[in-house]
Parts: sequence; structure tokens; C-alpha cells
Amino acid sequence: MKIILCKNYYEVSLQAANIVAQQIKNKPQSVLGLPTGSTPLGLYKSLIKMNKENTLDFSGVITFNLDEYYPISRDNAQSYYYFMHDNLFNHININKQNVHILNGEATDPQEECTNYESAIEKAGGIDLQVLGIGQNGHIGFNEPGNTLKSTTNLTDLTPNTIDVNSRFFEKIEDVPKKSLTMGIGSIMKSKKIILLASGVEKANAISELLKGDITTANPSTLLNAHRDVTIIVDNAAMEG
Ligand code: F6R
Repeated sequence: MKIILCKNYYEVSLQAANIVAQQIKNKPQSVLGLPTGSTPLGLYKSLIKMNKENTLDFSGVITFNLDEYYPISRDNAQSYYYFMHDNLFNHININKQNVHILNGEATDPQEECTNYESAIEKAGGIDLQVLGIGQNGHIGFNEPGNTLKSTTNLTDLTPNTIDVNSRFFEKIEDVPKKSLTMGIGSIMKSKKIILLASGVEKANAISELLKGDITTANPSTLLNAHRDVTIIVDNAAMEG
């Protein structure tokens, strides 16, 4: 595991943007796995800037988002579908047919998960997976517990995640209780992974991850078993 220690959030975003840009330049048809949340916003801003300045071309890029609330409609401003279009896809020259986001309105969520997993495989697997990390160590919405699911699945959000994510909703009752998420196996199959973390709230989760032990109590620790992971953290997130 490689660690890039940054002074602050701005630097985390720039380092991540450089890695993503290099990936796309090396392979214009790259398959990217993408997260939502506060952490990747700086990265997405940098990528938009590069695209507008004509230094980065997304026309061949294929994306798969990590997760989506369930149930939620696409036009709900808190859906990850809305978030990704608002913060990235509407501002770059990506072919919208190459964008894949789990459908929070699917009538058969199990079928949705199976189809998603097949679509990732059909695209040739994920070349570069970008991850954030939950305060409780979740990656995607793979929450701490006794077991972790390998493939894309419908999962219950933990009270901690509902609480942390309620900051985006009017009231905590509005946060969906479930989500569709790529599984740990789907993430681990990615050829290369970068995980971004900024702020002292992530320090505990990061310190557990860097101990090197693997435990379902902190799903991010599974990354210790992957051969190409880079953690991009700022000083605050390393405080633990
Ligand atoms: C979101 C996702 C989550 C977030 C995590 C951190 O697609 O996969 O695992 O990365 O909850 O969220 P922020 O960045 O808001 O702290």
C-alpha cells in the first residue's frame, strides 16, 4: 500500500486528479469507479477544469458509480444520480451512455445488482477505482458488521451512516435506510485503487486501515489484501 501524505484537502484533490488524469491519458477508454460524498468534490472540480482547458478528454471513458440510496428517485437532489450529474457529468465531454449508476428506483433491486455486476464485467472490469471512506470505515456502502458481501448488493445503512449523511437532508427521517452498493469483491477486482481521506473525522478509520490487519469491523481494511492501493490523505486524517 502506498501513502501520499498531503498538507490539506486541496492537495489531496490535486494529487487524486493527477492520478485520474494520467490513467485516462494512458488509456482513453479507461473504466473508472467513482464515489460521491464531500471528499471527491475537489477532485471533480479539477477534472472539470482540465476538460474545459482541453487537456483531458472523457469521450472514451466509462464510469461505474459505487453506490446509490434505495429507494430514491433520480431527480431527488440527494440521489447520487443527481449528485454525479450536477458535480461532474454535466460539465465534461463524457458520453452519457458510458455512465453507469445503480438505479435507486429499480423495482427488482436484486436484478439491478446482478445486471450491474455483469455490466462491469462486460466493460472489462474497473481500471481505476476511486474511493472515499466513512467515519466507520465503510467503502461504498459496505458497512461494518459480521459479514461483508462480495458482489453488488442491497444493504441496510448503519445508524452511524444515516446520522453522518443526514447533513445533506432536511431531516434525518428523510435519509433512505438502504442502499445499493458494489460489494467488497467488486471493488477488490479493480486493477488499481485510490482512497481519498481528509479531515480529523476520518483519523480513526485511517489508523485502523494502516495497521494492516483485516477486519469486517472496518471494511476498508480489506484493501490491505489488494496489490495496488494508494491512500491519499491529509495531515488531519493521519492524526490517528
Ligand atoms: C459514496 C461512498 C461513501 C463515501 C463515504 C465518505 O459514494 O461510497 O463510502 O465515500 O461515506 O463520504 P464523505 O466523502 O462525504 O466523507
